[in-house]
Amino acid sequence: MCGIIGYIGHRPATPLLLDGLRRLEYRGYDSSGIALMNGDGIKVMKRKGRLAELEALLSEDGQKLESTVGIGHTRWATHGVPNDINAHPHFAMGEDLVLIHNGIIENFSELKEYLVGSGYSFQSDTDTEVLANLILEFYEGDLLAAVTRALLRVEGTYGIVVMHKNHPRSMVVARKGSPLVVGVGKDEIFVASDLAAMVEHTRDVIFLDDNEIGIVEDGEFNHFNLDHSPIKRKTTHIDFSLEQIEKGGYSHFMYKEIMEQPQTLMDTMRGRILDDGSIKLGGLIQHMDELAKAERILFLACGTSYHAGLVGEYLIEELAGIPVEVEYASEFRYRKPVIPPNTVAFAISQSGETLDTLEALREAQSRGALALAVVNSVGSTIARESVGGVYLHAGPEIGVASTKAFTSQVTVLVLIALLLRQQRMGLDEMSVEITQAMRQLPEKATRILEDQSQILDIAKMFCRASNFLYLGRGTQYPVALEGALKLKEISYIHAEGYPAAEMKHGPIALIDRNMPVFVLAAENSTSNRKILSNTQEVRARDGVVIALVTEGDTRMDDLANHTLYIPTTHRLLVPLLAVLPLQLLSYHVADLLGLDMDKPRNLAKSVTVE
Ligand code: AGP
Repeated sequence: MCGIIGYIGHRPATPLLLDGLRRLEYRGYDSSGIALMNGDGIKVMKRKGRLAELEALLSEDGQKLESTVGIGHTRWATHGVPNDINAHPHFAMGEDLVLIHNGIIENFSELKEYLVGSGYSFQSDTDTEVLANLILEFYEGDLLAAVTRALLRVEGTYGIVVMHKNHPRSMVVARKGSPLVVGVGKDEIFVASDLAAMVEHTRDVIFLDDNEIGIVEDGEFNHFNLDHSPIKRKTTHIDFSLEQIEKGGYSHFMYKEIMEQPQTLMDTMRGRILDDGSIKLGGLIQHMDELAKAERILFLACGTSYHAGLVGEYLIEELAGIPVEVEYASEFRYRKPVIPPNTVAFAISQSGETLDTLEALREAQSRGALALAVVNSVGSTIARESVGGVYLHAGPEIGVASTKAFTSQVTVLVLIALLLRQQRMGLDEMSVEITQAMRQLPEKATRILEDQSQILDIAKMFCRASNFLYLGRGTQYPVALEGALKLKEISYIHAEGYPAAEMKHGPIALIDRNMPVFVLAAENSTSNRKILSNTQEVRARDGVVIALVTEGDTRMDDLANHTLYIPTTHRLLVPLLAVLPLQLLSYHVADLLGLDMDKPRNLAKSVTVE
């Protein structure tokens, strides 16, 4: 996720900005830069890559950077690949005004078209530069008023800091959907996207809320609503440790990332479900004809991303009537696969760097498939080698065990399935019904995440188990696999996921009173009613059943030893809610075992070897 730091005070800004950016590195980034007021104008220095690249540029520059006013940014690319030009800060045309921005300007294309028509030129591919020029368009000497007028034209999210050379001791800040906080020090003021960037200089802060704006000038912060009605908000004193701050106050990145899924679900859907329920996926627009002609879809992935692909198989085959094959990337690439005409291959990958997945995509492409990708990391190798695709917009996933990426991947696959359906059947009632249900998912996910008492009880009961079974049918079968993988990789307890009906073909021999069996029964379509008899087979052999059911569903009450409930949703969206208790269960079991959930033994976040 991008990082913001700004400083106005009496000390040289450069070392403070660099130190703040270092504190933000944990959020993940692919380029960085700073802008300094330097007497007769603004100097911008920015570079792709790690902070060390920026520091090298500053020392090459050699200029004595004595300025006491400046801003800094670490970019995690969303629009425009990582490079020096797309890095922030961004000048508006003429280089009198400069801006750093976290978030996504959804209507940046329309705004850019308007600005180009008004004579503005652009250097980068970013939505941020569009906002910088829009502010300049409205600037008539009052920076706060110009920023306000521009933001009223913006759709999307932002956390921004703006400087103009005519106001050398001022900066304007504004927030909508992307955190921004002002730190009040002794004769100096900091601005940041994250407390970690300023907490060693000041712990007295003012948080901005959405649709608020403010101006820092001469040691003061003046705070307003967008209609310029004043806001009087007391400073908050921060007691968190730095490490707690980096994890958002949570004990582990994994837990933070589990808990931020209501937000990441919103971010993944943002701007992609239009008011009428139709789907807009910018990264696939160039390939709509090939998608319309697609006769076969291939998902190539590993681990959790493979499980997301399995959910996608059910979705696309039911919603679009196109055959789907989900392949372990490592097997696919050496199998001499047959790729018929009109095959579309999607590599699914959080990191975008998994070598098996990359090589599988290359293999599919070499055999004539259209190579697309569903990736979280913008500008990653898989993103660059595919000819199009869909970004997750889930923000960097730091915990080795993949959680928010899975739910964002499944969300993207729902959107792709709906897009393919709408190409073939038009915008019908089922599409509208599903998109309406998708809009309710963040609130329903919040309800699951807010009440973990039962999950914690179950974790306490079974954290000493040696084995676990996860059973599911239909779209919950891949969730069973994912739940088992989560438990394995962070608690080191052996766990297997199975199609529930498969038990009687052998694995049922494993069942005894020491084998906890997690049965995913969170929807009651016909196929899923059979889960009751599968569960009876387990209970008849003294297996201990933990059932996951939909609120109000009492069918498992007499069968399960323990029951967890999730809110109802459309049956094809159940995986997006059913996975949450399983993520939490694995986290709490590992926590009870005193293990390191963020860095499990033997594992790497991105497997770039074969
Ligand atoms: C999942 O929790 C694991 N970290 C692992 O299975 C991961 O999903 C797999 O290595 C694929 O990574 P990718 O999504 O970055 O390609």
